[in-house]
Amino acid sequence: MKYGAVAVAVLILIGGVTTALLSQRPWLPRSDVVQPVPFSHRIHAGINRIPCQYCHEYARRSENSGVPPIQRCVGCHSSMAEQVALQAVRKPWIDRRQAAFEIRWNRVYTLPDFVRFYHSPHIKAGLACQRCHGPVETMDRVTPVFEINMGFCLNCHTQRHVSIECSTCHY
Ligand code: HEC
Ligand code: HEC
Ligand code: HEC
Ligand code: HEC
Ligand code: HEC
Repeated sequence: MKYGAVAVAVLILIGGVTTALLSQRPWLPRSDVVQPVPFSHRIHAGINRIPCQYCHEYARRSENSGVPPIQRCVGCHSSMAEQVALQAVRKPWIDRRQAAFEIRWNRVYTLPDFVRFYHSPHIKAGLACQRCHGPVETMDRVTPVFEINMGFCLNCHTQRHVSIECSTCHY
């Protein structure tokens, strides 16, 4: 009897922990991400009006938007006054915790493996990046504005008469 009660308690505990973990949904966009270089979208995409797709060139063409290679940064920064920002872009080489010639950016937006999402059809349909990512051009650090959950996807698909069959978005 005593052991039975313990077993039940353990089961309830395991169930509770699993439910809690799943309901936290580890894949939701994060707002506490720290980047290795203090890159600012407000300065680049906002003040200096560099188009989103100059750096995120794959958005139109593929699943991922991708982040620009460091050559893209250096291309601009090497022609600027020394102390302006080359210093910041060079940081990964100076900082031994970083790999050489590479900036390891940390992800803000993620989806679980069981969801299928491609940027390309959305961009080709004329949706602005801001529709899902908010006013990134005003942000020093990318922080999520919308909680990108299933309801967020379904709302727009329904409004725009895009398929809402489970297999559209799930493997
Ligand atoms: C000068 C290059 C550059 C431009 C222009 C630029 N970005 Fe970025 N973007 C980056 C870099 C580098 C990162 C990775 C570091 C970070 O998250 O801040 C990034 C990250 C992001 C992320 C977060 C990705 C993730 O999940 O970690 C989003 C969303 C994004 N950019 C959207 C935009 C939008 C929208 C625009 C236009 C308004 C834009 N970017 C313009 C370079 C750029
Ligand atoms: C199309 C040109 C261009 C590209 C590409 C570019 N930058 Fe910049 N960056 C600028 C300009 C312009 C400034 C503003 C300089 C100023 O205010 O004097 C700047 C400023 C900065 C600063 C200083 C921001 C501050 O707080 O003052 C950092 C850090 C920086 N860039 C990092 C990067 C990184 C990392 C990349 C590559 C992902 C990158 N930049 C790509 C043009 C560019
Ligand atoms: C329909 C909503 C939607 C639109 C529109 C959209 N994104 Fe995204 N974006 C997402 C989602 C969802 C993710 C997470 C994808 C994942 O984890 O597979 C993401 C991820 C990203 C990332 C992280 C790296 C990657 O490629 O996964 C970047 C950078 C990004 N988006 C930039 C952009 C830019 C730039 C635009 C406009 C040209 C844009 N996004 C338009 C929903 C959107
Ligand atoms: C703001 C509106 C909007 C949001 C939000 C949105 N979508 Fe879409 N989605 C569209 C449009 C528009 C298309 C393009 C349909 C076409 O090409 O005819 C599309 C197409 C797709 C396609 C390709 C469908 C096909 O038949 O080729 C997939 C997969 C998809 N979306 C998944 C998602 C997922 C997953 C999310 C949430 C993370 C999402 N979408 C969020 C508007 C949206
Ligand atoms: C337009 C895209 C889209 C369609 C269509 C869609 N889903 Fe989802 N679904 C998502 C996204 C994105 C997530 C992950 C984000 C979240 O946790 O809500 C998700 C998460 C889920 C989850 C995990 C539950 C959770 O809340 O953690 C289940 C179960 C699920 N979907 C079932 C379905 C079923 C069943 C259908 C068909 C009736 C369906 N989905 C149709 C995009 C979609």
